[in-house]
Amino acid sequence: DHLRHVESMATLPSGAGKISHLNAVILGEALASEENDLVFPSEDFSRQALVSSPAQYLELYRKSIEDPARFWSAIASEFYWIQKWGEQVYSENLDVTKGDIKIEWFKGGITNICYNALDRNIEAGNGGKVAIYWEGNELDQDGSLTYSELLEKVCQLANYLKDIGVRKGDAVVIYLPMLMELPIAMLACARIGAVHSVVFAGFSADSLSQRIVDCKPKAVITCNAVRRGSKVIYLKDIVDAALVESAKNGVSVDVCLNYENKSAMKRETTKWTEGRDVWWQDTVPKYPTTCAVEWVDAEDPLFLLYTSGSTGKPKGVLHTTGGYMIYTATTFKYAFDYKPSDIYWCTADCGWITGHSYVTYGPLLNGATVIVFEGAPNYPDAGRCWDIVDKYKVTIFYTAPTLVRSLMRDGDEASNFSGFTCNLCYVTRYSRKSLRVLGSVGEPINPSAWRWFFNVVGDARCPISDTWWQTETGGFMITPLPGAWPQKPGSATFPFFGVLPVIVDEKGTEIEGECSGYLCVKNSWPGAFRTLYGDHERYETTYFKPFPGYYFTGDGCSRDKDGYHWLTGRVDDVINVSGHRIGTAEVESALVSHPQCAEAAVVGVEHEVKGQGIYAFVTLVDGVSYSEELKKSLTLAVRKQIGAFAAPDKIHWAPGLPKTRSGKIMRRILRKIASRQLDELGDTSTLADPSVVDQLIALSDC
Ligand code: PRX
Repeated sequence: DHLRHVESMATLPSGAGKISHLNAVILGEALASEENDLVFPSEDFSRQALVSSPAQYLELYRKSIEDPARFWSAIASEFYWIQKWGEQVYSENLDVTKGDIKIEWFKGGITNICYNALDRNIEAGNGGKVAIYWEGNELDQDGSLTYSELLEKVCQLANYLKDIGVRKGDAVVIYLPMLMELPIAMLACARIGAVHSVVFAGFSADSLSQRIVDCKPKAVITCNAVRRGSKVIYLKDIVDAALVESAKNGVSVDVCLNYENKSAMKRETTKWTEGRDVWWQDTVPKYPTTCAVEWVDAEDPLFLLYTSGSTGKPKGVLHTTGGYMIYTATTFKYAFDYKPSDIYWCTADCGWITGHSYVTYGPLLNGATVIVFEGAPNYPDAGRCWDIVDKYKVTIFYTAPTLVRSLMRDGDEASNFSGFTCNLCYVTRYSRKSLRVLGSVGEPINPSAWRWFFNVVGDARCPISDTWWQTETGGFMITPLPGAWPQKPGSATFPFFGVLPVIVDEKGTEIEGECSGYLCVKNSWPGAFRTLYGDHERYETTYFKPFPGYYFTGDGCSRDKDGYHWLTGRVDDVINVSGHRIGTAEVESALVSHPQCAEAAVVGVEHEVKGQGIYAFVTLVDGVSYSEELKKSLTLAVRKQIGAFAAPDKIHWAPGLPKTRSGKIMRRILRKIASRQLDELGDTSTLADPSVVDQLIALSDC
């Protein structure tokens, strides 16, 4: 059955047979234009690529599906294990009707991911190779660490953590900006078998505290402040507030390790709690630069990362060690066609899964040189990314569509300010000749952004890996292999090795051929998450019960006649703002926490730069009147409870919300009102009070 699926899934696109067409669209010879829906890698690129043709991809893919145990063990054997996994390479049950959901890979294998990322590469002779180039917020701030230097820093911190009592299995919360200390902290936890939970340093004190209360860490690692663009954010104040809040909820943290980020804030002005707070610089460097590894089972937890779901409570996605290690390393290598000479830059923050898998683990496991950038991509101006690309001779550049769209827009604005006729000068004033592969992640990339990225940034020379995946999947699931397939702007193309994506209808029946529906996965893969921390039942209910027998991704997807996959966005109550996942319920609960808000309903609405914007319908308590002041104060409530990135783009006053007679809010109607598609409201007769809709429309511009 599996094999038949593989055979039928991928066929060469119809245009590929036509040699003349193929030659015309070879990268570097023709720009990706509206007419060219197929964009081919150049012959030179394909020749040097790890996978250089559809046939080669299909052969490897077929092997990975026919015999996953053999395929993945061969790859896993390239890593260091002090004890090999048991006879059964993996075991899985993805079918709720057959018992508990369970996924295990390489069980019984004993290893350590930090050892594999650092010590193993150093032993292979790469100790002197740069592991991390760090670029600060300001143009003149930078630094670097070789693999050997990185290992020493990791060991010092690991020794410190052990000294304060952090043991295998204990949680450590990391709330840091993109300093080198962030991957150092992750790796130090991994070295001693502690479970890190990185919280994006844009989350508010309330959100941070919610996560601390859930995972009860032995320590919190932070820094006093960070400068992002022209703003200073006082992170330690946020941590202090979160720790007060956590203590009220019964979870007190004994140690808060603070890195003094001098360029943003001096220690003299940092608020301090004696007995709990420790300066990183005063303490950690005193510890030995070597630290014995804590060897762990492949199925021992590596990290927890909280992500949004369709209810208010964030989900603690749990990843384990062995499968995640093999999967992130392999996906990184193939999807970016990695070569040891590459200089790799992923603009994601380690506070999100992309930063876990493709800033820290995937690249370092491959011995790559990685750039860690602390600043904002448009500071001091919209040319900063290309300045960094030229400075470090970046060869692989991986980012999100939202950044592509914002730079595309700024590119045009440059002409207005400077009077140049070249409206792309933010980009073209830099060479960018070092680039060879581009990548996109986080949301669907619209074809016009794809073409701008390809034609302007990559000079029509660099294939784009549009990688579809999720916090839950650990690594890439559907992605181009840049040397193999002709690309279609906006399509994530084909599944990675070992992944069997299927599209199902509402009843959960698989649909073949050209179709649209819900994206599910039929089998387990090594990087899959194993549970939601402390709530296996929610894991089963959210991901495995909607379509029994499958992992349900929450995304819509269509497949075209050539077998290419086109992701169409979330089909649940999650919205994707600038590539960040936000649950509508979380924003609603923050709004209704405001004493003057009676009810709120949040929907996603198309946004030119962010992909989706947050559109909130708000009903006020009786007697309160609308005002701009109140809008600001409602927005503040969301910033306080979640973080600035979740602030609504629009608040729409709602005397009432469209509800069915049983009280269910009809979001379909709200989405249409929010996107001004008033002639597509559909049937409103089932509403308890249809006149609500007219009232809402009348208030659209208030
Ligand atoms: O809707 C999909 C979208 O981002 C969701 C996962 O979000 P998160 O767990 O925060 O991880 C983001 C980084 C992997 C998915 O359910 N998404 C991610 N990548 C793509 C995408 N949608 C379309 N194309 C992509 N390449």
